[in-house]
Parts: sequence; C-alpha cells; structure tokens
Amino acid sequence: MLYRVVRPLLYALPAEAAHHLGFGVLKATQRVPGGTGVLRKLCMPTDRALAVDALGLTFPTPLGLAAGFDKNAEGFEALGALGFGHVEVGTLTGEAQAGNPKPRLFRLERDRALINRMGFNNRGSADAVARLARPRRTIVGVNIGKTKVVPESAAIDDYVASTRRLGRLADYFVVNVSSPNTPGLRDLQAVSKLRPLLIAVRRELDDLGGDRRVPLLVKIAPDLADDDIDAVADLALELGLDGIIATNTTIARDGLRSDPTPFGAGGLSGAPLKVRSAAVLRQLRVRVGTQLTLVSVGGVESASDAWERIVSGANLVQLYTAFIYQGPLLARTIALGLLQRAQAAGFERVQDAVGSAS
Ligand code: FNR
Repeated sequence: MLYRVVRPLLYALPAEAAHHLGFGVLKATQRVPGGTGVLRKLCMPTDRALAVDALGLTFPTPLGLAAGFDKNAEGFEALGALGFGHVEVGTLTGEAQAGNPKPRLFRLERDRALINRMGFNNRGSADAVARLARPRRTIVGVNIGKTKVVPESAAIDDYVASTRRLGRLADYFVVNVSSPNTPGLRDLQAVSKLRPLLIAVRRELDDLGGDRRVPLLVKIAPDLADDDIDAVADLALELGLDGIIATNTTIARDGLRSDPTPFGAGGLSGAPLKVRSAAVLRQLRVRVGTQLTLVSVGGVESASDAWERIVSGANLVQLYTAFIYQGPLLARTIALGLLQRAQAAGFERVQDAVGSAS
C-alpha cells in the first residue's frame, strides 16, 4: 500500500538512482539495533509448510532475491528480513570495476520490464569478505563472474581467485556465465569452456576444506539454443554440480509494447522473459530428472507465477524486476500465496508440489 505512494517518487528518479535510494533506506535498518529483527518479525512468513530442503540447507520459503540487486553483499540481512528465503549476492568479480557508463538501467513500464547493461559494477570479491564473514540469519548465495579487463585466457584464474576468497562464506556458490553485458562472457557457456571452469571452481571449493561441502550451481542465459541447454545440463550432471539457475536476462526484444530502441544494448528482464524462462525450466527438469536443484528465475511476478514454476519442477524460485515494480512486501505476499495454493491443491508442504505438473 505504502509503496503505491512511494513508487511514483522513486520513479521520478532515473532507475539506478531510485535503486540506490530505496536500497539505502533498507540498508539503514541494518544499522539500527534490532532493526532487521523487527522487519523479519513483520515480514518473514514462518509457516513450516513453506520450508524447502535443498542444497543441504533448509530455506524458510522457496522465493529468493536474484543476483544483481545486492551486488556488493551489503544488504542481505535486511533483504532476507523482508521475507526472501535467500538472497543471492553479486555478481562479484575478481577485481573491482566501475561497470558501463550511465545511464545503464531503464524501465519499460508498460512491459513491467527492465533493460540493464550495468556491466558487473562492483567493488570486487575481496571487498565483500568482511561482510559475508559475519554471523547472519539470511541464506546467502554468492554469485561470481569475470572481471571485464581479464582476457578469456585468464578467466578461470579470475573465477578461482573469487572462489578462494568467498567460497567458505557462501551458503551456495554460483558461477555466472550468462550476463550479456561482459563481452565474451556468455561464450563460456560452451561446454568446451565451461567444463574446465566448473572443474576448477569445484576443486577450489573442495581445497578450501571446512566442515561443509559448499554447493555449486551454474547460472545460464535464456538465449541458449535448446541443444546447448541439454549440453549444460548433461555437464552439470557429469561434474556433480548441485544445481542450475535459469535464467539470466535476455538479449531478445520480442513482443514488447514499448519501443526498446532508445535504450540500446543490454539484458531484458521481467514479464517479457516469463514464457522463455519457464520453458527452459521445463526442459531442464526433463533432462536432469530429480538429480539437481533447479532455481527458476525470469519474469516471476506473482504467487501464480511462482507456483507454476514449482509444479513445473523448480525447487527454488527467484525474482528481481517484480521487486522493483511491486515493492518491499512482494516476497511476503508471494510466500503466503504459495501456502494457499499448496493447501488448495492438497499438498502438506509447498515442496511436495515440486514437479507435480509433469
Ligand atoms: C540483473 N541480473 C543479474 N544476474 C546475475 O547473475 N548477476 C548480476 O550481476 C545481475 N545483475 C542484474 C542487474 C539488474 C539491474 C537486473 C534487472 C538483473 C539478472 C537477474 O538476477 C535475473 O536473472 C533476471 O533479471 C531475470 O529475473 P527477473 O528480473 O525477470 O525476475
């Protein structure tokens, strides 16, 4: 409700400035003693029927916040307290980098969509260590990518350096090879390049030791051909990965009401991604059976969307763009909607519905 009043004010600002303002207010709750505790009490649904066992963890709800909102791992406690069952931080790269020139984030309001060409603006993986080392209540995935200036021949070293710094601090770890905004990055999705990269990151995670095997996932683009999706799925099985996150933003511009040409290059997210992202999920579930955790992301805007992904085989669901459009209560609203749908369909727990449509 309140967001209906606040949103026009935020939308009077350029999209990236609005993000910093909104996120700044949220982060401030972390500096107030007990602040995130109060927020959590108000927003986090506690019904056990929402809990999901996946990746060796128990997620309080299936819905998480996708990567790219909390790039530097600064606000995950406040974001988690809003009712997200997990927060994926990053993408963090081996070295700090400024990203592309602004403006680089655009709203397509009539499409409930965004176009971004942020270009992995972040302070680098070393900078996030101290914040991720503190005790926390939120389940945090750490998403890593390649520094722009690092040539492809040294890409593995860049990913491995971030893995060494952050691997043990992550509840789960994600190799991102699917952003359209780092030249050449998506070429790493080709199995011939992806295999050595994933082997190196997995080995580094194992070499770090510790009392827990850190789950490793790969995040893929919606623009892969169907054969390539199967190839990545087969590779994930072959290498003993724990899961796949599908999907990142798309470079396609199909079916838009707004004219996207003034915004230029970048990844499209939100409602126009829904159909393709759901199709990729279904294809992956058929290919991997129940062997991998599948995280579905792309165009999820409502409890119906999230439910549809779950019954199509998603263990976990994420969103980003709908949070921008619908505001801070969305995670809670969707979680409660999932609960209702599970009950109506006769499932004791939401996770009992995973893959039930197939
Ligand atoms: C993203 N996304 C993203 N993904 C990622 O793996 N690393 C990143 O740094 C970012 N950055 C980023 C910035 C902005 C502004 C947006 C809108 C998106 C992609 C995001 O995590 C998600 O995969 C897609 O946006 C699709 O989900 P939604 O937005 O349709 O719910």
